[in-house]
Amino acid sequence: MRAIRLTLLLALTMALPGCGEDPKPPAPTSNAMPKDPALAQIYANSCQLCHANPAANAPLTGDRKAWEPRIRQGTDTLLDHAINGYNGMPPMGQCVECSEEQFLQLIGFMADQPLPQ
Ligand code: HEC
Repeated sequence: MRAIRLTLLLALTMALPGCGEDPKPPAPTSNAMPKDPALAQIYANSCQLCHANPAANAPLTGDRKAWEPRIRQGTDTLLDHAINGYNGMPPMGQCVECSEEQFLQLIGFMADQPLPQ
C-alpha cells in the first residue's frame, strides 16, 4: 500500500510543472525598476506582477499614454484607488506595509510623469 501511495505522490509532483500550456509567465514589458532600493523591492514584490504584465489589464509601467487619463483624475483619486482598490486593482496593491508617500512614488515611477500637486 505504502509503495503505491508513494508512486502516486511522485507522479503527481512530477505532473505539476507541466500543468499549464506555457509554464513561464508572460515576459514583463518593462524591466524598469525604481532607483530607490526599498521602493524597487516593493515594486518587484507587488506592483510589477500586474503593472508590467499585459495580461493583467493594468496600466503598464512606462506606458505614459495609458497613465495620462488616470493622472488627470488627480493625485487624491489615484492615491484613493491605490489604497482602497479599483476594479482589478487590489486594495493597497497587495503592499499592506506601504506608506502613502511610497504609493505616490510608485505611481509616479510607473506613470513615468510627475503627479499633479
Ligand atoms: C493583482 C494585480 C495588481 C497589483 C499587484 C497592483 N495593481 Fe495597480 N492596477 C491593477 C489593475 C488591473 C488596474 C486597472 C484598474 C482599472 O482601471 O480597471 C490597476 C490600476 C492602478 C492605478 C490606477 C487607478 C486609477 O484610478 O486609474 C494605480 C494608481 C495603481 N494601480 C497603483 C498600484 C501600485 C502602486 C501597486 C503596487 C504597490 C499596484 N498598483 C499593484 C492591478 C494591480
